Amino acid sequence: MSTNHNGEFFYPSEELKSKLHVKNYDEIYQYAAEHPESFWSVIASELSWFKPWDKVLEWEYPFARWFVGGKTNIAYNALDRHVNTWRRNKLALIWEGENAEVRTYTYLQLQREVNRFANVLKAMGVQKGDRVSIYLPRIPEQMIAMLAAAKIGAIHTLVYAGFSVEALRDRINDAESKIVVTADGGFYNGKVVPLKNIVDEAVSKCPSIISVIVVKRTGADVDMTPGRDLWYHELMALPIASPKCDAEEMDATDPLFILYTSGTTGKPKGVVHSHGGYMVGTYITTKWVFDMKEEDTHWCTADSGWVTGHSYVVYGPLLNGATTVMYEGAPTYPLPDRWWSIVERHNVTIFYTAPTAIRSLMRYGSSWVNRRDLSTLRILGSVGEPINPEAWLWFYKIIGQERCPIMDTWWQTETGMHIITPLPCTPLKPGSASKPFPGIVVDVVDEEGESVKPGEEGFLVIKTPWPAMLQTVYKDPERYKQQYWSRFPGVYFAGDSAKKDEDGYIWIIGRVDDVIKVAGYRLGTAEIESALVSHPAVAEAAAIGKPDPLKGNIIKVFVILKFGYEPSEKLAQELKNHVGHELGPIAKPAEIQFVESLPKTRSGKIMRRVLRAQELGQPVGDLSTLEE
Ligand code: WTA
Repeated sequence: MSTNHNGEFFYPSEELKSKLHVKNYDEIYQYAAEHPESFWSVIASELSWFKPWDKVLEWEYPFARWFVGGKTNIAYNALDRHVNTWRRNKLALIWEGENAEVRTYTYLQLQREVNRFANVLKAMGVQKGDRVSIYLPRIPEQMIAMLAAAKIGAIHTLVYAGFSVEALRDRINDAESKIVVTADGGFYNGKVVPLKNIVDEAVSKCPSIISVIVVKRTGADVDMTPGRDLWYHELMALPIASPKCDAEEMDATDPLFILYTSGTTGKPKGVVHSHGGYMVGTYITTKWVFDMKEEDTHWCTADSGWVTGHSYVVYGPLLNGATTVMYEGAPTYPLPDRWWSIVERHNVTIFYTAPTAIRSLMRYGSSWVNRRDLSTLRILGSVGEPINPEAWLWFYKIIGQERCPIMDTWWQTETGMHIITPLPCTPLKPGSASKPFPGIVVDVVDEEGESVKPGEEGFLVIKTPWPAMLQTVYKDPERYKQQYWSRFPGVYFAGDSAKKDEDGYIWIIGRVDDVIKVAGYRLGTAEIESALVSHPAVAEAAAIGKPDPLKGNIIKVFVILKFGYEPSEKLAQELKNHVGHELGPIAKPAEIQFVESLPKTRSGKIMRRVLRAQELGQPVGDLSTLEE
């Protein structure tokens, strides 16, 4: 369905509106625009600081340092701050395994588990600033490991469990992690997802790793390498695993985590986020965008291996003292109403998911939804790709029963927090992420960096720094400058195209670089291509995203075979499996086409744009740089 770029408005009910944290967006936006530093500092003071900051923002273009001189710890704010109040006995986490097992943790219980694991890490020699890789399924230990690392000032770096050997190895090696935390597997769609053998293969070429900590989840047989591999539950039973651990007092600008994300070229970039600014950004966006209150139960369906899980499964909800829900498995296991049954049984009030999931669940029809009681829901959210109005309306009518506004949140791994998003008081247009969050200034510009007219397509840019802004690319500040701040000097280039309408609403169109969004997952053409050329039959490869009604995009690759290899169905299948093994099942190409040549620039760069246009039967545009 095409997007209607002016559309009708959907308004929140007066009843909902009367109880919101923010009732008037324009007023707050205006205030924040005029007094950005006082705006952000008032928000920051809602959190706990060991020492207040001297300066709200030090902006040495393009490096922003927020809350300079301030000392804090995000894990202290997510746990200890609440444990010191009546909230200690309130549920922090409700976890449900795919096998219907349920585990709950109060704030006090979660804090103790985190402290125990923090002490284990310390005893293993992990110090402030050291990196800890986490490669876990969606189980409570994923969150515990993150918070434990943060508590002692170590830097966590998660790798989504849908990634495989080569992807994991590259990320561990770039981060030079000492430890990797993994599991004997996880349950997904009725099967055990093996992780340990992937870690073994990856770590065989990771010289920095001293130890592999393995959580027992499925009971599957795994090889344990003596002297290197240790069971999580055995470590947690040792006397060193004391439930008491003081939070390390961190500079607000100290790194909290590195999360790798696909970029335009080469290896994935290590996006670095801080304790202070990231904390303030995720805290307030969770509070205002989802109107989060004390009594809320928040379920974000994302995996914490991605930024959405970091910010809105773990940190945002816990910083707000709410209850967060985590579900291990597939949305349709054992039946297509699994998600709705989770909403019903755990009384979820805020539900945040991705358009691709909505589209796939829509296909099963509304009767699966209607057999469940979803009356606890109050606010809905969408993230990861543009939501088509058809899916928006189904989400609104069938899931939200026309009662719950949908927050279509545009943001990125790099932004750390929501950037363009409605608040629940905002009149909504299905398919538009609406307007920037207060304190944030965005624009849509043309090739020259000039604002485009309403209705015209252009590049999305962010014009002023924001607290949860990435600090740099790990070990590569030049790449940070180059990637984000060189396309349009003075402003942050997001890599997306967009339009602005007459009402100032922003409509995101999609990536304009070599990033492909598949079912909301962010993948880079470069990584897919390098996985392909690591196969002995492949001479060269080019990957493109091809629009797909369910997944947003699928991956199509064009492959030139080496001399002596013949195209065949069998070889195509082998190449798909090879990418699955190297990079991960989520990156498996859906289509492979064998070709004799690829369109290239005179300097030898593959012109994916041309391949894509040809594939879609669109005009190929400017070909002046194409080699003969
Ligand atoms: C896309 C995910 C349209 C966009 C949080 C962005 C969206 C990329 C939306 C970042 C949205 C995210 N509407 N597109 N509401 N949210 N995107 O780093 O292309 O995995 O640049 O972060 O997702 O993907 P990432």
